[in-house]
Amino acid sequence: MSDCDRLRTLSELIAFLEPFHPLADIPLAPFITDNLFHTTVLPLFPSSQDADPALLFPQFWDFCVVLWKSPITEYPEARNPWEKLARDAACKCRLLVSGPPPEADAVDGKLASVMMMSEKKLQEICAMAPVVRDVAEECQVRQVVDVGCGKGYLSAWLSLRDGLDVLGVEMSASNIQGAATRLRRLNQQWNAVRKRLPVAGDSGGPGRLTFACQAVGEDAQLDGVDGRFVVCGLHACGSLSDHIIRMFQRNDQAAGLVLVPCCYHLMEERFEGGNCSAAAAFPSSTFLQSRRYRLGRNARMLASQSVERTLADRAAFERSVRALFFRALLQVVLRRHGLEERVQSVGSIKTVNGDFVAYAREALDDVPMDEEELEAVYREYAPVELQLRLVCLTRILLAPLIEQIILLDRACALDERDDIGDVGVVDLFDPRVSPRRWAVVAQKKL
Ligand SMILES: C[S@@+](CC[C@H](N)C(=O)[O-])C[C@H]1O[C@@H](n2cnc3c(N)ncnc32)[C@H](O)[C@@H]1O
Repeated sequence: MSDCDRLRTLSELIAFLEPFHPLADIPLAPFITDNLFHTTVLPLFPSSQDADPALLFPQFWDFCVVLWKSPITEYPEARNPWEKLARDAACKCRLLVSGPPPEADAVDGKLASVMMMSEKKLQEICAMAPVVRDVAEECQVRQVVDVGCGKGYLSAWLSLRDGLDVLGVEMSASNIQGAATRLRRLNQQWNAVRKRLPVAGDSGGPGRLTFACQAVGEDAQLDGVDGRFVVCGLHACGSLSDHIIRMFQRNDQAAGLVLVPCCYHLMEERFEGGNCSAAAAFPSSTFLQSRRYRLGRNARMLASQSVERTLADRAAFERSVRALFFRALLQVVLRRHGLEERVQSVGSIKTVNGDFVAYAREALDDVPMDEEELEAVYREYAPVELQLRLVCLTRILLAPLIEQIILLDRACALDERDDIGDVGVVDLFDPRVSPRRWAVVAQKKL
């Protein structure tokens, strides 16, 4: 995709999202207390004001399942505004996919336990390593800095299998310790492991691998690198992604970039809440900055979700909606008791067996709660759970669009620099296994 195409796609995505932005950024805790279904959601679907969520939701779910499995030429016809939004969103979120994903390193999934990682992590490493390797080759470097390397899964693969010299940088001392212990064990059995791997070209044996405990920040300084390098990050959370991009932009020795971001809700926004924070990383392109573009925290939270993964497991989806429903019910109780301002951290409370009384008592363990009152609140608002299912499924369909806006903004900002040659957004992982599947890839001009 050329930089003009990228700008056009970004512009198309933000225009499409604009009318639905209130839905993407809707806070769900006050869903009942602020009557958000009627005040915020239904006005977006004017001709379905009378629709009954109990009938609409199951049909809508089935429609989305068929839609997401179909090639674009065989998308089913939409029968109502909800299905029309789903269909249009599916068309838009395929804008960025410009071809099959790069070929992953083929390995036997059983190798995961020998390599001391999960099968999910092994799949991610096998998909990402070839891209890092290719960028290193194009940039003519053998040194890679893996920022936020965690336990060093990618670092060790690039060094042991691909013969690259790798510096793994990680701010958590316990992760660094874990990485070192894992590497020691891996080294002991590497000869046996290597025989089960496909031949790794002429890498000439393992490269150097070192780990550094360092928090990478705004200043983008690095200790322990010598000469030009490729910087990479696998699931670099929140602002770390932007620190990595800044390192790539500002450090003359950084020749290439391969970055898979995650945890978008931890990112800082420049135009959030009326404030204008120039240090914040989103948006970073001139295009979105000139529009003072803002996503909002709830929309950024949404960006981490995957449609494919959601549609693969309806029971899991309904469980997650139940947790949101209970949180919204709790808000009703808090308001009635004048406790609404109380800061709630209830994310970890279990919603087992649909028992709202137990949930509320655990959430408000220091406030005596009348069981009958809690049961009455549950009965009064039970139908809202179906509204929430409809809303949550509709929001999930917007998730890939928001993620693509974030990634395209970063890619467009890289396009703006004269010293950067190739920039791309690459579809890397199977989204049913690994949401946050995209990599931003770039190279400086040689
Ligand atoms: C989601 S984990 C991914 C770990 C690893 N890349 C992987 O895929 O297994 C993100 C890692 O980045 C580390 N991290 C976050 N902010 C950092 C910073 N500013 N500097 C260095 N490491 C950081 C965290 O401690 C965490 O281990």
